[in-house]
Amino acid sequence: MTQSDASTSDIDPFSTEYLLDPYPFHEQLREAGPVVWLSKWNCWGTGRHKEMNEVLADPKTFCSGAGVGLANFNNEKPWRQPSMLLEADAPEHTMRRAVVGKVLSTGNLRRLRADFEVAAAALVERLMEKRAVDAVAEVAEPYILKVFPDAVGIGQEGRENLIPYGAMVFNALGPQNELFQESMVGIKEVSDWVMKNFLRENLRPGGLGLEVYEAADAGQVTLDEAPILVRSFLSAGVDTTVNAIGNALWCFANHPEQWQKLRANPALSRSAFEEVLRFEAPFQSYFRTTTKDTSLAGTAIPGNQKFFMSVGAANRDPRRWDQPGTFNIERQTTGHMGFGGGIHGCVGQMIARLEVEVLLTAMASRIARIEVSGPTTPRLNNVLRGFDTLPLTLYPAH
Ligand code: HEM
Repeated sequence: MTQSDASTSDIDPFSTEYLLDPYPFHEQLREAGPVVWLSKWNCWGTGRHKEMNEVLADPKTFCSGAGVGLANFNNEKPWRQPSMLLEADAPEHTMRRAVVGKVLSTGNLRRLRADFEVAAAALVERLMEKRAVDAVAEVAEPYILKVFPDAVGIGQEGRENLIPYGAMVFNALGPQNELFQESMVGIKEVSDWVMKNFLRENLRPGGLGLEVYEAADAGQVTLDEAPILVRSFLSAGVDTTVNAIGNALWCFANHPEQWQKLRANPALSRSAFEEVLRFEAPFQSYFRTTTKDTSLAGTAIPGNQKFFMSVGAANRDPRRWDQPGTFNIERQTTGHMGFGGGIHGCVGQMIARLEVEVLLTAMASRIARIEVSGPTTPRLNNVLRGFDTLPLTLYPAH
């Protein structure tokens, strides 16, 4: 097969219509074929789990170094210095990933659990005094902006800059549409804050950020790479997790029987989080670029072509999942694409799990029921899915 006889679709994964309600489009994308030519953006793509897995497992053919957004860095200059992890290939990626992977490993993070538990308990205490709360402004953002920058060793002042910074970074993975332009407004000050706060002299001793600089002292990465690697933590680890918490509370408010399951067995909080990532993935889509002529599911794809992957579609692919449209926290979720896969699979997944597991456990012990109490607004982003406002009523457990 060639481009002319591969399935073609005019779906635009960056249109407002798609971003507001991607699920019907996901189905169209999956059913159009295993590999689809997306005529709107002149790129290839898949919405199927098997093919996405194959692409992620072959980084030599489907690389990240030419950008994991729509832009092809082989043909156009990157708009900012590319991420040294996400947008790098072997061999450069390998050592940097090993360093960051060690800093963010489960063993290294164990000591953070107690701090996260204190923060979660204090937050839940405040929430129970109010009972009418916004899941984003009063739960997800304050929690993540407390525990995550504390763990990295960032000062207290100005942490709210991390939200627009992340929004801009993720919007930039799509086209330079209105969403991207809007997220660039005022970004100079935000970026200046970010770069300043990742410098060695501004990081707190004992935090994860300084550990990256210590690895540079030991010659494992260069001193020039260290601040950019710390930046990659902070740009990838805030908006994703904030959206994940909002999406989780939305899922539980709409599936009260699942909340009851969690309350009855709080040990389910970990698998509940994985099911949220499958069911309402916060990071919905990204790209690879072909390094040579290749073929996928019988479709010939030339070299230097962008390849789009829909996490949200693969996570509900009926070829892979039984009852994919059902939210079930006891499901076997292994293989969901919420954290990606292969050599670029999310390096922050252990800390994200710890953050959310601790919060859900604390909430489940105090809250009998969660209800959506008013109109919600989406936080539109070219590749992220989450809420801007999500008003909730929390009913206390007696
Ligand atoms: C629920 C929260 C999160 C989600 C859904 C998420 C999702 C993802 C996904 C899908 C990828 C793969 C992208 C690709 O292959 O192109 C990724 C990579 C990455 N994530 Fe996360 N992430 C989350 C939290 C975090 C956190 C907390 C951190 C930092 C501590 C982080 C740091 C990174 C980095 C640095 C990469 C690039 C890894 C590499 O290229 O080797 N993420 N994430």
